[in-house]
Amino acid sequence: MKPEKIAELPAPLSGPPPSSTRTRTRGRLTASQRRSLEVFAASWQVASDVVWASSFERPAPMGVEIGFGMGPALIEWAQTAPAMNLVGIEIYRPGIGALLGSIESAGLTNVRVLEGEASGLLETSFEAASIDEIRIFFPDPWPKRKHHKRRLIQPHMVAVIADRLKPGGRLWMATDWADYAQCMTRVVSGQSNLQAVDATDHRVPTRYESRGRRLGHRVFDLVYQRKV
Ligand SMILES: C[S@@+](CC[C@H](N)C(=O)[O-])C[C@H]1O[C@@H](n2cnc3c(N)ncnc32)[C@H](O)[C@@H]1O
Repeated sequence: MKPEKIAELPAPLSGPPPSSTRTRTRGRLTASQRRSLEVFAASWQVASDVVWASSFERPAPMGVEIGFGMGPALIEWAQTAPAMNLVGIEIYRPGIGALLGSIESAGLTNVRVLEGEASGLLETSFEAASIDEIRIFFPDPWPKRKHHKRRLIQPHMVAVIADRLKPGGRLWMATDWADYAQCMTRVVSGQSNLQAVDATDHRVPTRYESRGRRLGHRVFDLVYQRKV
């Protein structure tokens, strides 16, 4: 599948690519994560040149979660929206193993997994105006100012997201870092085709959210819609 070219895309940042080379990808696998990768990847993990229509074997609204971690929010999304085709993008192998195990134990058939760096995969694996909703919950905050350039939410990434969303499609981000929420708001405001809307949906607490709340952090949910 050859995605259409993106109009007026800001250049990727110079220097190190956001997060990809700075975030852990390998980590220690538990026995059950290793087994899930060995046994279930063939069923649910797809390559970047995937053709979605044949992978899902049905046309359906498409949702994508980026950086799903251990996957609880994606599993809940798949259970509560069985009529959607959902894709998780993650670079952390233990998380992918955990998600594959959860897909199997929950008996889900509407989730696929893409392993790798999200910004590149959004560009190579999805066509323009093909995604109904993109969720990014608690991306790595990189709290030190000198590391902010490693954050996932950057002008280039948001331009790719805006391009891949269908008109009327949603971008839902959450963070427990106030300055990252401000940064997200600022970056998205540079995208004239995205507008803020209210966050109304339920969301299961993720591992990073729970940690943030234990530390007394306020949680920010930021939702945007691609203008119709
Ligand atoms: C702070 S964790 C949050 C995980 C989960 N969403 C949660 O709330 O518990 C950020 C996740 O994003 C993944 N990640 C970071 N940069 C990424 C990238 N460029 N592409 C795909 N995944 C990425 C990390 O491996 C990690 O699992």
